[in-house]
Amino acid sequence: MCGIVGIVGHQAVAERLVDALRRLEYRGYDSAGVATIHDGRLDRRRAEGKLLNLEKKLADEPLPGNIGIAHTRWATHGAPNETNAHPHFVEGVAVVHNGIIENFSELRDELTAEGAVFTSQTDTEVVAHLLAKFTREGMDHHQAMLAMLNRVSGAYALVVMFQDDPGTIMSARFGPPLALGHGKGEMFLGSDAIALAPFTNQITYLVDGDCAVMTANGVSITDYAGNPVERPIQISQAAALMVDKGNHRHFMEKEIYEQPEIISHALSHYVDFATGAIREQDKAIDFGAIRSLAISACGTAFLSGLVGKYWFERYARLPVEIDVASEFRYREIPLSKDQAALFISQSGETADTLASLRYCKDEGLAIGAVVNVKESTIAREADAVFPILAGPEIGVASTKAFTCQLAVLAALSIQAGRARGTLSEVQEKELVRHLIEMPRIMSHVLNQIQPQIELLSRDLSRFKDVLYLGRGTSYPLALEGALKLKEISYIHAEGYAAGELKHGPIALIDEKMPVIVIAPHDRFFEKTVSNMQEVAARGGKIIFVTDEKGAAASKLETMATITLPNVDEVIAPMIFSLPIQLLAYHTAVFMGTDVDQPRNLAKSVTVE
Ligand code: F6R
Repeated sequence: MCGIVGIVGHQAVAERLVDALRRLEYRGYDSAGVATIHDGRLDRRRAEGKLLNLEKKLADEPLPGNIGIAHTRWATHGAPNETNAHPHFVEGVAVVHNGIIENFSELRDELTAEGAVFTSQTDTEVVAHLLAKFTREGMDHHQAMLAMLNRVSGAYALVVMFQDDPGTIMSARFGPPLALGHGKGEMFLGSDAIALAPFTNQITYLVDGDCAVMTANGVSITDYAGNPVERPIQISQAAALMVDKGNHRHFMEKEIYEQPEIISHALSHYVDFATGAIREQDKAIDFGAIRSLAISACGTAFLSGLVGKYWFERYARLPVEIDVASEFRYREIPLSKDQAALFISQSGETADTLASLRYCKDEGLAIGAVVNVKESTIAREADAVFPILAGPEIGVASTKAFTCQLAVLAALSIQAGRARGTLSEVQEKELVRHLIEMPRIMSHVLNQIQPQIELLSRDLSRFKDVLYLGRGTSYPLALEGALKLKEISYIHAEGYAAGELKHGPIALIDEKMPVIVIAPHDRFFEKTVSNMQEVAARGGKIIFVTDEKGAAASKLETMATITLPNVDEVIAPMIFSLPIQLLAYHTAVFMGTDVDQPRNLAKSVTVE
């Protein structure tokens, strides 16, 4: 989504605002803009495309001023051009916004009828017009802010400056996050604490329905009725999370290759390496007592949850209801207090996942959050937090967060098995032994398969469509493989449960359709091989991702066979994720796409 920053103090702000925006660019990169107040007037620079374009503009036309707000955009309403770039100005009011103003078209009609002239297609501009109107009508700035907040509906983080008050930044949150940073004689705000990490680690998080008035000396916060509210100052760990690419070409490549080390670190939180037992986790979810588990998430996080479903059902005999959060939140699912709910989110800010969490909370369920960002809204609203400890994931396509989510879900399902008496101590230790071995095997696989996959990606890049097939936990991996390939290479790809092939997708198979079959030599292997035969019989080109036993057992001719070591079923999803990630990565690199920031995507999706 969009990223927002603001600074009010006694030194020039433009350069520092852009520096902070750089750390938020993962949230959107359609356009960027910065506004300050200097010499008694609002001034701004805006540029279409990446932040680099804005930096060039600022180098040619510097922007003085000790107060400013800035924005990097992921377009919702209106094309991603300079006119629609934030900040928006109307009669001495400057606004940046993350989210969606849902009643914008009704407000726009009303304001237009009153004579307002709109210069952009954005929903944000109605906010600036409302503030200008209420100021004209004689309200002070805070009153105008509250009046505006009582007129708009939707999800938003809003930040405002008034030209005639060059010492104040006002902001409000309803949905997307806003963090306020306390400095010495300066105050900051940003969409997350990472943006503010070079300036301060003292952070106040706004909650939904807060309106903040910030000067260089501090902040006062009210609700939308103007009643003062207190929000604590927390010490953020975000500074430790700032990263660079090291000697990798892309963040995505770095994040793929750091998986063995990161997973090992994450596992040490869940597994006692000395005793081979799963560590006791947060007791807020009693896996032994619940009747069933609801899981919800979006995108890749949803697919990790889908793998988790297989594990919870198999190891803990715990029924799992799972759905993508955008559906889950509106399905009016009958739930009861003897169930628990688990929400999986790398960012911890995804709007649909958060809304699903709140739905379950209202129904009285114990809430668990499997998150990467421990300071996120989803983590803060959950009863139990299960951190995935993946460190900052900068590449927009999720890689290490996915495998860390899987590692955490595997550990939780084993813990649930123990709590429910469905796994013996011996079985638990055996599963944990495989988890402990996993980082070493991942490291070996990454070194082993890279050259073959790089070559194969050249062939794959010639195709327009690709199918992925898998059974059991390899089915969610097939979905993840297709998602990864399409999002970064822009090749059309679909994932199917291998058994579904003959129910429709088989009609697509011909020599122009490579089919990537993910099939470790597990309980489903023979059945998947039968599906491969159906593909081969129709001239489809097979890329077979299997293990040593699988490669030896299959006699089918393939376009390529990627052979991984034989591993236990419990770690196969993490190990088999590696060729899938690398294949998407190298294909995208070969095709010359913007791997870390693929078009139209954003890392943190804080709108519906
Ligand atoms: C795909 C990807 C997305 C995210 C999804 C949920 O590579 O990264 O599909 O998984 O937007 O995001 P989080 O996990 O932050 O809730």
